[in-house]
Amino acid sequence: MPDPQRHPFLQGLSKHRGAPPTVIVIFGASGDLTARKLIPAIYNLSHDNLLPPDFYLIGFGRKPVPDEEFRGHAGAAIREFSRRDLQPEVWSRVARNTFYLAGGYEERAAYDRLHALIQKLETQAGRELQSLFYVSTPPSVFRPIIENLGAAGLASRHLGTPIQSKVIIEKPFGRDLASARELNRVIAGVFQESQVFRIDHYLGKETVQDLLVQRFANAIFEPLWNRNYVECVQITVAEEVGVGTRGGYYEQSGCLRDMIQNHTMQLLALTAMEPPVSLDPEAIRDEKVKLLKAIQPLAPGDGGDVARAQYAAGLAGGQPVPGYLEEAGISPRSATETFAALRIAINNWRWEGVPFYLRSGKRMARRVTEIAIQFKCPPGTLFAGAEQYNLAANTLAFQIQPDEGSTVLLNAKIPGLETRTQPVKMHFRYATTFGSNTPEAYERLVLDAMIGDGTLFIRGDETEASWRLITPVLEHWQERQREGLDAYPAGSWGPKAAEALVAPRGHEWRKP
Ligand SMILES: NC(=O)c1ccc[n+]([C@@H]2O[C@H](COP(=O)([O-])OP(=O)(O)OC[C@H]3O[C@@H](n4cnc5c(N)ncnc54)[C@H](OP(=O)(O)O)[C@@H]3O)[C@@H](O)[C@H]2O)c1
Repeated sequence: MPDPQRHPFLQGLSKHRGAPPTVIVIFGASGDLTARKLIPAIYNLSHDNLLPPDFYLIGFGRKPVPDEEFRGHAGAAIREFSRRDLQPEVWSRVARNTFYLAGGYEERAAYDRLHALIQKLETQAGRELQSLFYVSTPPSVFRPIIENLGAAGLASRHLGTPIQSKVIIEKPFGRDLASARELNRVIAGVFQESQVFRIDHYLGKETVQDLLVQRFANAIFEPLWNRNYVECVQITVAEEVGVGTRGGYYEQSGCLRDMIQNHTMQLLALTAMEPPVSLDPEAIRDEKVKLLKAIQPLAPGDGGDVARAQYAAGLAGGQPVPGYLEEAGISPRSATETFAALRIAINNWRWEGVPFYLRSGKRMARRVTEIAIQFKCPPGTLFAGAEQYNLAANTLAFQIQPDEGSTVLLNAKIPGLETRTQPVKMHFRYATTFGSNTPEAYERLVLDAMIGDGTLFIRGDETEASWRLITPVLEHWQERQREGLDAYPAGSWGPKAAEALVAPRGHEWRKP
């Protein structure tokens, strides 16, 4: 049995064992996210003994639901969606402290009832509790929830102490720069920034956190991580699925808002930022904001830095599938993009002249999220030209999902008497090295919010820096409607318009 004082993995967890007594209130308790992610995350934290001894859960929603029925729904959600099977003794620890409160999101009195319930739980526990409010509703009610938390005195409970109230806000955080600023203004009127946790669940993924470790805990990468050695960087967030039943939502969103503005820009910031002075959350977030501010404004016009397209009919998993315009709930004249790609230039000392290519799309060849650092080729004096030398640029690729891990592409000699070469891959796979039962992103994020660690959440100025970059492109596309909108067959790697972004520098998109 390892000594917990010395064992590095147990020491890592011990930080979390200090989560203070907490009541989590989920707004939108009957929702899809609550069932698929939040309840299973809480269950798995309990399984790992990472919840504080005094832990309470309150579901908040519009329909009256008895406590017992809510516990039943939660148990069913764990059976269906948890990465571990439900163990009754683990679940009962949480279930006996689980309650439900019915109320309208705009109904001021409902928040007084909530306050009274939290005070009752404090009396029951015999100690003060931290309140963690999880806003898991559609964005149309973010504002009334936040304002009512302020008006009912819930936001300022235990302010200035380690158990001050905290709020987790789901995506989407705004739909352009103006609306993100407005939401930040509403939040700042009620909460201090240290109380606010804006979610981008990509940041909770193990491989995204591993990116920081790989970059800054391995001396071999830092000397290469700059314009002298890097030819280009490609970030791909590809989905195999189409729009499915979410057509109504997607028509209001599109790929640039849904995927690029948040997840892809976060991956870019973590890949390209300068080393932070410490692992302190503010030190990391300062570096991310500096990086986002160093990005050159995007030229959205023809021959510019952006491409957009919609999927046409094609194949998915070998089966024929319809194009975006034929999907349920989609206008046949829709100009909503299901694919977007950007060519980004970063105006700083490290990255001057190195293009960063970002792309995301639905109905692409396969589901994959990866960050690929493509290095410059060596001088071609020895192995260039001759046809037996099949050479590829060295590439370091981080697979964020699925098949989490990283791969280095090298050139090697094929065994034999002739000198022939071939690119080979060195793989590190999470599942083979560490086993496949890694925590889900939401487990990490809920736990971090409980202990007040904002490293993996997005600060207000970060959201605005990202929207500042993206909003002019959205406005340009809004004006042009379908003009310049390209198409790509479902099951492919994207449209011709995306090729045009990488071709001027002789680059090609990867097929990961
Ligand atoms: N689902 C996911 O995988 C996922 C992933 C990333 C982010 N998100 C974000 O997380 C949030 C919740 O997602 P979700 O999929 O759970 O959403 P949802 O199922 O559409 O809504 C969550 C709950 O909010 C309440 N609600 C729904 N529509 C409402 C309306 N028009 N006015 C007031 N309340 C309404 C309902 O709860 P009551 O009826 O109980 O009041 C509903 O069950 C959203 O902001 C979403 O963008 C979701």
